[in-house]
Amino acid sequence: MASVDILLGLQWGDEGKGKVVDFLAPKYNVVARFQGGPNAGHTLEFDGHKHVLHQIPSGIFHEGILNVIGNGVVLDPITFKREIDGLAPFDLDLKRHLVISNKTQMIIPTHRMLDKAYELAKGDKKIGSTLRGIGPTYQDKAARKGLRIGDINEPDFDERYNQLRDFHLQILERYNFEAELDEEEKLFFEAIDIVREFDILSTEYLINEALIEGQSVLAEGAQGSLLDIDFGSYPFVTSSNTIAAGACTGLGVAPRRIGEVYGIFKAYCTRVGSGPFPTELFGDKGEELRKLGNEFGATTGRPRRCGWLDLPALNYAAMLNGVTQLFMMKADVLADMDEINICNGYKIGEKETNELPLYLDTDNLGLMFDTFSGWENDKVKSFENLPESLDKYVKYIEEHTKTPISLISVGPDRTQTLLKENF
Ligand code: GDP
Ligand code: IMO
Ligand code: MG
Repeated sequence: MASVDILLGLQWGDEGKGKVVDFLAPKYNVVARFQGGPNAGHTLEFDGHKHVLHQIPSGIFHEGILNVIGNGVVLDPITFKREIDGLAPFDLDLKRHLVISNKTQMIIPTHRMLDKAYELAKGDKKIGSTLRGIGPTYQDKAARKGLRIGDINEPDFDERYNQLRDFHLQILERYNFEAELDEEEKLFFEAIDIVREFDILSTEYLINEALIEGQSVLAEGAQGSLLDIDFGSYPFVTSSNTIAAGACTGLGVAPRRIGEVYGIFKAYCTRVGSGPFPTELFGDKGEELRKLGNEFGATTGRPRRCGWLDLPALNYAAMLNGVTQLFMMKADVLADMDEINICNGYKIGEKETNELPLYLDTDNLGLMFDTFSGWENDKVKSFENLPESLDKYVKYIEEHTKTPISLISVGPDRTQTLLKENF
């Protein structure tokens, strides 16, 4: 029987998951998203085009791969229609290559409004949500009130939609949020008609049957491990399990079906939205990294906060996920820097530790660093023959994580990817 390999982010999202899923997709028969929703922005670049996918899995540009939106995802039909429309010029046979779980939870317009109302009410304690309705939709899922994509083909769909919307409107009224719904609902029902044209299935059967037939499956994570609802920097997290375990519940595959777990990280760190970020760089240094890395959100356009690689946090994520291989992204961004730092341990008061405290922004958190120098980017041509200082950087991370790095990314394009021999 084949297995499900998982590719997921080890930091605060935007590690470059879309790029690598697109790069590896030809090795797989199925690519599946298992959590998150339109809060994700996964960028793919090839043949001079740049695409940002939010809900559609990043295997969509390859012939002959089935892309699955799993039950663990929250899907916004309006964003979905917009994505489908955006892909129209590329002549992809989407209805044949994309299926949706009948158990995928649905984001309705008032979920987005609630997201806004809750954030406004939090004032300066706001999460910095993408305002895509993610939190309120997962909230309704857990409260057993949610609508699922399969419900759009049930005879009482309109009635159940009205009931949920009216419940939301009551809450919005208490927040003094003026809900203007006419245009939104028009778009919503137009989009529902488009969703109906796709196969809406019990994708847990489809995936498990594919595995029995020996077909390989790649599960594509969204967000990153430090945004996980249980293990991330709570409450500044997203509302789903972004770690490997989420792939089991988000697709309906048993833990014993999991094969490789590819953990992807930037050679430094970024974060969008609020919340603690121990190695964050402020002032000119942070600005330099943001510029060199073009660190602006793919979904919201917000500037990303930038900082040095944080090994205690990376090791924590690798542990939670059972990472078997590491992929290091954006090595090119550090190349020209005279001095690059890696945080290799924390100090809480006088005590040195590699464990993350309950709150990462605890006042007395000290950081310990090792320093590296840059390298000539044009000399980065093959994995086996890296410039000395990049080689040193890679080996240092491998040693401190006890995990091999098997892919190094040196630019946004599909072709700017170095893969270890015999991968
Ligand atoms: P995702 O959410 O994990 O898929 O990542 P995003 O697409 O949000 O952000 C990653 C950004 O970095 C995108 O703009 C990518 O095009 C870009 N990118 C990916 N890999 C590399 C790389 O190796 N070097 C550079 N310079 N950019 C990269
Ligand atoms: P990809 O898949 C980076 C962040 C938001 C906010 C917090 C909660 O592209 O890596 P939410 O809208 O989920 O309620 O926001 O999580 N966030 C992301 N940051 N990349 C993402 O996705 C993110 N999805 C959510 O900025 O801090
Ligand atoms: Mg992103």
